[in-house]
Amino acid sequence: MLEIAENGRTWILSGPTSSYALHLGAEGELLHLHWGARISLADAEALAARPEPKYWPFESQLDGREEYPVEGGPRFTRPALSVRTDERRGTEWTFERYDTEGDELRLRFRDGGLAITLHHRMRHDVVERWVTLDNDGPEPVEVLRADSATWTLPDREDAWRLSQLHGRWAAESRLTQAPLTYGEKVIGSRRGHTGHQHLPWVALDTDATEERGEVYGCALGWSGSWRIAVAQLPDARVQITGGAGYDDSGLLSLAAGESFATPVFAGLWSDGGFGGASRAWHAYQRAYVIPDADQDRPVLFNSWEATNFDISEEQQGTLARRAAAIGVELFVVDDGWFGTRTSDRAGLGDWAPNPDRFPSGLKPLADYVCALGMQFGIWVEPEMVNPDSELYRAHPDWVQYQAGRKRTEFRNQLVLNLAREDVREYLWEQLDTLLSSAPIDYVKWDFNRCFTDAGWPGEPYPQRLWVDHVRGFYALLDRLRAAHPGVAFESCSGGGGRIDLGVMSRTDQVWTSDNTDPLDRLAIQHGFSQIHPARVMAAWVTDSPNTQLNGRVSSLRFRFVSAMAGVLGVGGDLAEWTEEELAEAHEWVELYKRIRPLVQRGDLYRLRAPRGGLSAVQYVLGDETVVLAWLQAQQYGESAPALRLRGLDPTASYECLETGEVHRGAVLLHHGLRVDVRGDLDAAVLRLRRI
Ligand code: DGJ
Repeated sequence: MLEIAENGRTWILSGPTSSYALHLGAEGELLHLHWGARISLADAEALAARPEPKYWPFESQLDGREEYPVEGGPRFTRPALSVRTDERRGTEWTFERYDTEGDELRLRFRDGGLAITLHHRMRHDVVERWVTLDNDGPEPVEVLRADSATWTLPDREDAWRLSQLHGRWAAESRLTQAPLTYGEKVIGSRRGHTGHQHLPWVALDTDATEERGEVYGCALGWSGSWRIAVAQLPDARVQITGGAGYDDSGLLSLAAGESFATPVFAGLWSDGGFGGASRAWHAYQRAYVIPDADQDRPVLFNSWEATNFDISEEQQGTLARRAAAIGVELFVVDDGWFGTRTSDRAGLGDWAPNPDRFPSGLKPLADYVCALGMQFGIWVEPEMVNPDSELYRAHPDWVQYQAGRKRTEFRNQLVLNLAREDVREYLWEQLDTLLSSAPIDYVKWDFNRCFTDAGWPGEPYPQRLWVDHVRGFYALLDRLRAAHPGVAFESCSGGGGRIDLGVMSRTDQVWTSDNTDPLDRLAIQHGFSQIHPARVMAAWVTDSPNTQLNGRVSSLRFRFVSAMAGVLGVGGDLAEWTEEELAEAHEWVELYKRIRPLVQRGDLYRLRAPRGGLSAVQYVLGDETVVLAWLQAQQYGESAPALRLRGLDPTASYECLETGEVHRGAVLLHHGLRVDVRGDLDAAVLRLRRI
């Protein structure tokens, strides 16, 4: 809901539990008023009328109060907007007008030929913010930096704590928390993609627990380089500024008549602790971000860990038969099916089936998979090229490179310049042909290296490729989705290197991590769940010992229950699994299908974090709930502690479908449910239904 004061200078957006208000001051300065618990328009107006705090010499009256600090004038905070023309640098803007479209508020300012519009929209309790720049003047304007938003937190008695999700390859999205101190904490990526090192999310709280207290969260929807800066200013006020690009050294150049829209930087306030905040983020993404989120994702098989590059039509057929027999619904052939791709040294860029491996193309295998009752999926990595490929031999200038400098290879590959229209057109033709050549239902879209030589010889403003690569990637995905509406897409980047709200609005699920060790995964999934829902979090059951990373031995039970917390997949070498293992796997897959609506569409409660002993999550949907519990290691013969459940009706009774026991809701909520797990790496699934 959007309300506007009669004088047209105070605006308030409200969701079910929260409000966000801003005000145009007497000097035309746009001030942040309120972000937090729900208040009325009259409250916001009263806030706007309060006298200004006293300022000391050497401090700015604007710092810490402005909705979107621009560069220039009496401001010393980090500017969200930094532009220059041949003559001037910075912005001196005046308010032009506001308008609305539905519940979107647009505040339009002008500085000479540059029109700057701030957009605000409340969806559930999430405020979406972005900025558009329109160069109406005759001169080009260089945009050095255009952040999507600056968020201002209220003054609090207690010190702020910063939560973030950090990582690296095979160790993504691990939650870490630390007190915020004066100065700035900056996270981001200067790699050209979202990166494994940080999910573009931060949360700030003073004293929140999992289920209680205020939590402020901000998440960016951009799949290229990005930056979020959290600043504690001299008066202790906290501002969070974020947007596309890592540096302030030039994002793009706007010629006369050109426009630019920043990505969305979304903010959420919750007083339900970290659990309440993540449930609100999940509900928002399911309602507004993720395509077709009301449709549950199928159980998939992926061939990567089973067969690596060594694949053939016959061998994939064998795996497909076994996958179908254990209940898999989508069979995905990973890397190695195209061009001369028999290792990571060659073939990327040539998206036609390898004639030795698939003499009649992909159709016979796809048809076979369909006949087994499964959907068929395929792996691609369109933004990359191996120097040893037909594509590179024909177009060595289609990659990102600096004239006369070496072309840095990672995994023997270079990055195609998707800012170029001819490159995008080539990829469109290749992928459109591929998707038309066989009944393909699913595309796993990978991205396996960072930008290093981001040059574009001949282009007057080469640094635009950082932004235009991402826009090119989005445009290609959008075009393919429109032309092939039945095809689902997975975002992968060597595991979780491209997970953000931007890619999530164009893909159906994401590959969470190349780390498929079921124990490591618990921590990765715990972090991931702070912002994104299980509906997109792909998780595979692979072989034991874990071949990929650490050699850890774990039971099928532990591996399945770990992966059942997300979109279940199987990635082990089924050709090597015994009949007993296949039969057990079948039972787990069938159990997953029964709890799938709760996992993928229910409310998630993190009952205990994975910190060594017992950890557990609970999903609630309607009258049903399911608990997934994992015991890392039992010590001193102690029984696992009872798990206090959440989200139940205290006056109702619940029957456990596993044990047949009937539990009173109040007892489950206040005294908990006992789980029978013991030893090392044990796990349990307990389903409860309201009677
Ligand atoms: C990295 C991905 O994360 C893996 O799952 C697999 O698809 C490989 N790339 C294939 O090269």
